[in-house]
Amino acid sequence: METKELLDGQVSRRGLIKSAAGIAGVAALTMGGLGFLSGAEASKKGSAVLPFPYKKFTAAEIKEAGNIAHDNWFKGFCSFAALSGGVEILRRKVGKPYTSFPMELTTFAHGGTSGWGCTCGTLIGAGVLATLCAGPKTGEAINNEVVNFYATEALPIFVPDHPRADLKTQSVSNSPLCHLSVGKWMKKEGVGFLSPQQMDRCGRVAADMCMKTLELLNLLADVYFEPKTKAPVFANEIPSQNNCTECHGPDIPKTSGKFGTGLDLLKGGH
Ligand code: HEC
Repeated sequence: METKELLDGQVSRRGLIKSAAGIAGVAALTMGGLGFLSGAEASKKGSAVLPFPYKKFTAAEIKEAGNIAHDNWFKGFCSFAALSGGVEILRRKVGKPYTSFPMELTTFAHGGTSGWGCTCGTLIGAGVLATLCAGPKTGEAINNEVVNFYATEALPIFVPDHPRADLKTQSVSNSPLCHLSVGKWMKKEGVGFLSPQQMDRCGRVAADMCMKTLELLNLLADVYFEPKTKAPVFANEIPSQNNCTECHGPDIPKTSGKFGTGLDLLKGGH
């Protein structure tokens, strides 16, 4: 049996995909209605089929992936780092199709997308890794957990075998934004951008997001992955972080409140 069928079969048997769709977010909720090609249709058209086969990582391999991610930060920055930590080991463990997958795909996402300080590039790389290994629907549910982890934990956690700088502090970003996350950490550490400390910190954060994604993919392989994090989009009627006052102050703008009427458009397929 192919890994895709195995995972889908196991997961839907436990009803976990259903619960993922229930809480993960707008795309996870509606993905069933989107016009994805079936695996058979896609391979007939010569396309590689998601998900790629996944083989569980041992604890030592997860640590190695963290070290690869950290070291690769210095070759292609954060997004490449988080993605390549997993893919390099999957190339070795599984081989094709990872061997022909270009891990440089998300390099542009460094610095919160080409240096614009938006979503931290590690989360884009980690999301691609999750989607490669689990498909679009479960990949998003896994990424949603990873984004929550990123925004709520004191980072960085991972201590690499070959650090480029000694770090004193960890900080909680309260946000998936590169700008806020690196800014709050630099302020606490007392260093500037492109200091050895900041660069090593971002390499370690890439390792943290790569490793968290692999831990969740391992749980999925064991059928224990169950999404716990609710994407903020539905509660807030706008894609957002939950800490509205941090940017808006006490006067949080209201949306029109006309949320949700367009979802039906996704069902028709045209
Ligand atoms: C990271 C900072 C940040 C956070 C956190 C944030 N916002 Fe915003 N939000 C902005 C910025 C910047 C704008 C654009 C403001 C403008 O154009 O004047 C904006 C615009 C908006 C708008 C569009 C209407 C308007 O007046 O501009 C709404 C509605 C909104 N935010 C709601 C929210 C809600 C609700 C939350 C919390 C769930 C939230 N925001 C959290 C930064 C943020």
